[in-house]
Amino acid sequence: MTRYDFIVIGSGIAGLSFAHKAASHGTVAIVTKRAPAESNTAYAQGGVACVTSVEDSFDLHVRDTLRAGAGLCDENVVRMIVTEGPERIRELMELGVQFDERELEGGEKELDLGREGGHSKRRVLHSRDVTGREIERALLDAVSRHENIDLLDNHMAVDLITAGKLGYATEDRCLGVYVLDEKTGEVVTLSSDRVILATGGCGKVYLYTTNPAVATGDGVAMAWRAGASIANMEFVQFHPTCLFHPEARSFLITEAVRGEGGVLLDAKGRRFMEKYDKRAELAPRDVVARAIDAEMKRTGERCVFLDISDKPAEFVRERFPNIYETCQRLGIDITQQPIPVVPAAHYQCGGVMTDVNGASSMRGLYAIGEVACTGLHGANRLASNSLLEAVVMAHRACADVCRTTPLSVERSLEIELPEWKSGDAHDVDELVVIYHNWDEIRRLMWDYVGIVRTDKRLQRAAHRLRNLQREIQEFYWDFKVTTDLLELRNLATVAALIVDSALLRKESRGLHFTLDYLEADDRRFLKNTVLHRL
Ligand code: FAD
Ligand code: SIN
Repeated sequence: MTRYDFIVIGSGIAGLSFAHKAASHGTVAIVTKRAPAESNTAYAQGGVACVTSVEDSFDLHVRDTLRAGAGLCDENVVRMIVTEGPERIRELMELGVQFDERELEGGEKELDLGREGGHSKRRVLHSRDVTGREIERALLDAVSRHENIDLLDNHMAVDLITAGKLGYATEDRCLGVYVLDEKTGEVVTLSSDRVILATGGCGKVYLYTTNPAVATGDGVAMAWRAGASIANMEFVQFHPTCLFHPEARSFLITEAVRGEGGVLLDAKGRRFMEKYDKRAELAPRDVVARAIDAEMKRTGERCVFLDISDKPAEFVRERFPNIYETCQRLGIDITQQPIPVVPAAHYQCGGVMTDVNGASSMRGLYAIGEVACTGLHGANRLASNSLLEAVVMAHRACADVCRTTPLSVERSLEIELPEWKSGDAHDVDELVVIYHNWDEIRRLMWDYVGIVRTDKRLQRAAHRLRNLQREIQEFYWDFKVTTDLLELRNLATVAALIVDSALLRKESRGLHFTLDYLEADDRRFLKNTVLHRL
């Protein structure tokens, strides 16, 4: 058993920001299941929404966030994150994050602010179209300078260790984590009274997603098994514009393309967004994604098109170099022709329910970043608010955990944790079973629990998922754990949480749209969907 003052699971913006701060207070393990930079963060394109211009105000950013959230945001949390944002952004810049600037007349420079759907002002700080890569680079660099941080890459958290599971009758609390070392195949025991989930989202639960392979909802699944409360899982955000190309399934075309004047066209080259919303291409994401879905269903086409070719080619190449080069490699010159796009699962608005400091309902367990449900996003996240939330919440969680669990007190509570037991489990003999179930979950979620839902489809999904969960649990007992098996188990758990939450909400609101209840019902459903494990 190895003991740390803090265990951080995940090395995206949330985990790395927390670890960098916590390292001034004690020893830190960062557990991350693939290479250190592999995270949703590294793929973020548009940027970070933050009030930095005199033409903008906290009130406007709060108002835009509340509007997008369709009545379910917690206004106090929104105001807190919006107002604390500029200080956290300043810290990121001090760590070396380079946001784009533009030159004013007279030679002075100011931050170049992007515009995205649902924002009433230009307020998105960005590094061309590779903002996340730049943030990840700077944070990994900062973390590597701390001697008391151990970065355990290719280590996958399997499950949380809690006092309850060990049979202690006292108040339940988190005591550590079992972690699979992928190089050796052994499960090691890490102990700490301060465990921070920063595991990101669950895009991989859907067949089509903008998320990388690591986004399998592990944090939510582990927290659920441990007994923490989970909220608002029905609100899955679908990004309207994922590149439609057989060789680039998860490649995002940032909303900033629409912010800079890109328009959506049907296969005949006609604009259609104005039929759906007067804000046209700059309507919030849920509106645009549903409009594209409706157009595709109406016309029977397999994609729509996003066209920025009206803008000067030099501007397009300069502002969107990553998108330009990626599309060019695939034979699409975005300065000359429209880009084929489809909606794809993008962001998990719900998650482990936390307070304003990232503390979950279980003592000793914090959740920050996409894995958490803080109340910022409500029923729909405003574009580019998640990087902001992650960095603000990492700071608050670090301050809170150091205040409420001083190291000296916790040391006196040390408990020897049992080692992981594999019993007589043997190696997985038929990987095909795992891959088959993995595909089935992702396809059924896409077909039955996608952008447009019905009770009947949800019930069908719920029924099938229960059977799959039973089957997967049997593999889990019989076979030695592997990353594939663990991810499959987590995907099935998270899929079931999404479906169960969606079945409870008998209305359409924000990202949850059902043909059975077309309107929002404030009288019955102006509240979070909170699931507790019995
Ligand atoms: P992540 O960055 O996803 O990091 C999670 C980490 O946890 C990873 O290191 C992962 O390997 C690790 N992990 C997961 N499970 C385990 C486990 N069991 N054991 C060990 N490690 C584990 N948001 C914006 O605000 N602006 C944008 O412009 C923007 N663009 C985006 C573009 C794309 C293509 C995508 C996919 C998302 C975008 N988002 C954007 C959303 C945003 O990037 C994410 O919400 C945010 O980066 C999440 O950060 P995080 O630190 O919570 O999680
Ligand atoms: C994008 O660049 O379109 C993604 C922004 C986000 O998800 O916030």
